[in-house]
Amino acid sequence: MNVLIVGGAGYIGSHMVKRLRDHHSVTTLDDFSTGFREAVTGGKLVEGSLADAALLDRVFSEGHFDAVMHFASFIQVGESVAQPSKYYANNLVNTINLLDAMVDHGVSRFVFSSTAAIFGEPRYVPIDESHPVAPINPYGATKAMVEQVLRDYDKAYGLKSICLRYFNACGADPEGELGERHEPETHLIPLALQAVSGRRGPLTVFGRDYDTPDGTCIRDYVHVADLCEAHVKALEWLGSGAASAAFNLGNGAGFSVAEVVAAVGRVTDNPVPIIEGARRGGDPARLVADSSLARRVLGWQPRYGNLDTIISHAWLWEKKMRTL
Ligand code: UFG
Repeated sequence: MNVLIVGGAGYIGSHMVKRLRDHHSVTTLDDFSTGFREAVTGGKLVEGSLADAALLDRVFSEGHFDAVMHFASFIQVGESVAQPSKYYANNLVNTINLLDAMVDHGVSRFVFSSTAAIFGEPRYVPIDESHPVAPINPYGATKAMVEQVLRDYDKAYGLKSICLRYFNACGADPEGELGERHEPETHLIPLALQAVSGRRGPLTVFGRDYDTPDGTCIRDYVHVADLCEAHVKALEWLGSGAASAAFNLGNGAGFSVAEVVAAVGRVTDNPVPIIEGARRGGDPARLVADSSLARRVLGWQPRYGNLDTIISHAWLWEKKMRTL
């Protein structure tokens, strides 16, 4: 297949490029606003923005793509509250530009990186696909809106899509070639590993007074390689002529912040230096996916559900970053 990977220089997109590079023809489109050129390890690379309609027209005219995967969005919840314009412009308007280019050029298969944030404060866990969509911040709202746009584009233009709602994407390439690199970094596992490696100060634990067994928040950590496998399954599903759909992707097992901190200590053989902090605004106590639909329909089977395995892969990457 001939696949366009938008955001292929970012965390999940770069793992996707690696996953597809030896079996398919891959083109990355990235503006490097948050991604890294050296993270693109195969295929063709085009530098440019989804805001540039002329560029999109050229890329699609030359590309003859069978499918598009879209990873290029801003992901910081707090920033989205402070700067909603930035999020609506990129995550929503730029995505519509991409979809319009697809429609103009007759490309009808789209895999979209959505998020658990579309569900807002969970009404129940584990969260299945019937859970109400009720985002509580602009980041989640932009993703929910794109899901709505996709339903309308399917009806009007026959554009078939799979929305994959990631819970807590984590881990790194098991071979150590790629990993998570956000600037600024806000995610728990890389921050804990950086605190151990000495690349930054202690990890602040955001609250120990939640209604959970150890008082810290519970999340569903899903390995980036497993997310990429879900994308491959989604491509196959769309290729078989199936209908558009949306799937929640997690391991179905929640781990608390304290459990993650303990696992990082175990895997690195070093205790994580921590500071006890106040709750971070907008953090639900518990976010766990019910991914049984993806397992049943797509045949998705996560390989790296074990927390220590996830952290050992992320640790490979952190050790590499430390020496840069
Ligand atoms: N945490 C800390 N200290 C830190 C960083 C995080 O205690 O320095 C805690 C958070 O409070 C939370 C847990 O670790 O309880 C996980 O936090 P992350 O920031 O790693 O991830 P989130 O669950 O906040 O966010 C993830 C995705 C978002 C998505 C969200 C869905 O990264 O893109 O899930 O709600 F929006």
